[in-house]
Amino acid sequence: MITISLADIFTKFPDRRYIMFGGKGGLGKTTFSAATAYYLAKKGYRTLVFSVDPQASLSDIFQRNIFGQGAVEIMPNLYAQEIDADRRIKEYQNEIRQKILDMYGMEKVPDEIESYIQAAAAEPAMEESAIFDAVVDIVIKGEFDYYIYDLVPLGHALYYLSMATVYDAWIGKITHLREEMREYDKVAALMKRQQDLDEDAILNELTFIKQRINASSSILTDRQKTAFFFVVVPEEMIILDTQKAADLFARFQVPLAGYIVNRVVPPQLKSQEIPAYLRNRIAMQEESMGRIKQAFGDSVLAYVPEMERDVTGLPMIERMAALMFGNGA
Ligand SMILES: Nc1ncnc2c1ncn2[C@@H]1O[C@H](COP(=O)(O)OP(=O)(O)OP(=O)(O)O)[C@@H](O)[C@H]1O
Ligand SMILES: [Mg+2]
Repeated sequence: MITISLADIFTKFPDRRYIMFGGKGGLGKTTFSAATAYYLAKKGYRTLVFSVDPQASLSDIFQRNIFGQGAVEIMPNLYAQEIDADRRIKEYQNEIRQKILDMYGMEKVPDEIESYIQAAAAEPAMEESAIFDAVVDIVIKGEFDYYIYDLVPLGHALYYLSMATVYDAWIGKITHLREEMREYDKVAALMKRQQDLDEDAILNELTFIKQRINASSSILTDRQKTAFFFVVVPEEMIILDTQKAADLFARFQVPLAGYIVNRVVPPQLKSQEIPAYLRNRIAMQEESMGRIKQAFGDSVLAYVPEMERDVTGLPMIERMAALMFGNGA
C-alpha cells in the first residue's frame, strides 16, 4: 500500500533538516510534530520542535508549561519551544524607546511618541514581525540537527510558508516601522530643535536585518533542506480542501515531501461485533481511502490509526512515533 515510507524519507534525504506538518485545523499537526521530534531525538539527533502559534499546544502535548521559556529540554536530544510574541513586542517597544532616549538625550519618552509606540504594537503586523524575528533567531543560531515547525492551520500556514514572499512582506513591514520611527525622530528632533537625524544607525540596522533574512529564507525555501508534509484524514471535504491547498502550496514553491493519513479506523474491526454506526464510519472511510489513493497516490507516506485516546504525554507520543515510523522507532 505504501511505496516509500515516512522513515524512508528521513533516511533518503538526510539534508532535509527543516520539517513541517501542514493541514487543516485539528487533524494532527502538533501530534505529528511532537512524535517526529521524539523519533529523531531517539535516533540521536538534537531536535527542536517549536511553535509560532499564539494558541500553541506543545505545552499540552508534552504536559509541561513551556510557553515563553526558550528551548526547554523534554528528554535527551528533544527540545520544545513556544514563542511568546507579546514579550517580543514589548522588547521591541523598549528598544525603540531606548533609541529615542539615547539619540536625543531625553529623560523620558514624550507622551505623544509613547502613544505612537503603543498604537504600532496593536497592529497584527507587529505580532507577525515579532514571531518572524523569533523564528529567524532560532534558525540562524543553528544549535540543532533538526527543526520541526509546529504550524498553524492551513490558511494561516500558507502565509508563514511562502517564506520568500513572506520575508519580503516582512521586510516591507519592518521598513514601514522604520519609516514610522523616522517620523518619531522628526517629532523628537523638532522638540529638541535638532534637524540632523541619525540615518546611519537606522540604515545599519536594516542591512543587518536583511542579511539575517537572506540567510534564513535561503534555508527555508531550499528543497534540499526542507520537507513539508500534509496531514489529511479520510473524509471527503478534508480531501478536497487538502487538494486545493496542495495546488496553492505548489505555486508558492513549498517543497512538498508527501502526505500522512491520520485517524484511520482499523478496518479489522469489521470482523468483530461492532455497532452499526462504527460499521458505517469504516465503510465511509474506505470510500475516502479510495479517493486519497486517486488524489495523492504514491505520495502517501503513512497511514496512522485512530487511537483509543488523545495523544498527550511521552508514552503516548512514543506510541504515535512507532505508528508513524514503524516499530524501529
Ligand atoms: N491518531 C489519533 N488518534 C487519537 N487522537 C488523535 C490522533 N491524532 C490526533 N489526535 C488528537 O486530536 C487532537 C487534535 O490533534 P492536534 O492538536 O495534533 O491537531 P492540530 O492539527 O495540531 O490542530 P490545530 O490546527 O488546532 O493546531 C488532539 O487532542 C490529539 O491528541
Ligand atoms: Mg496544532
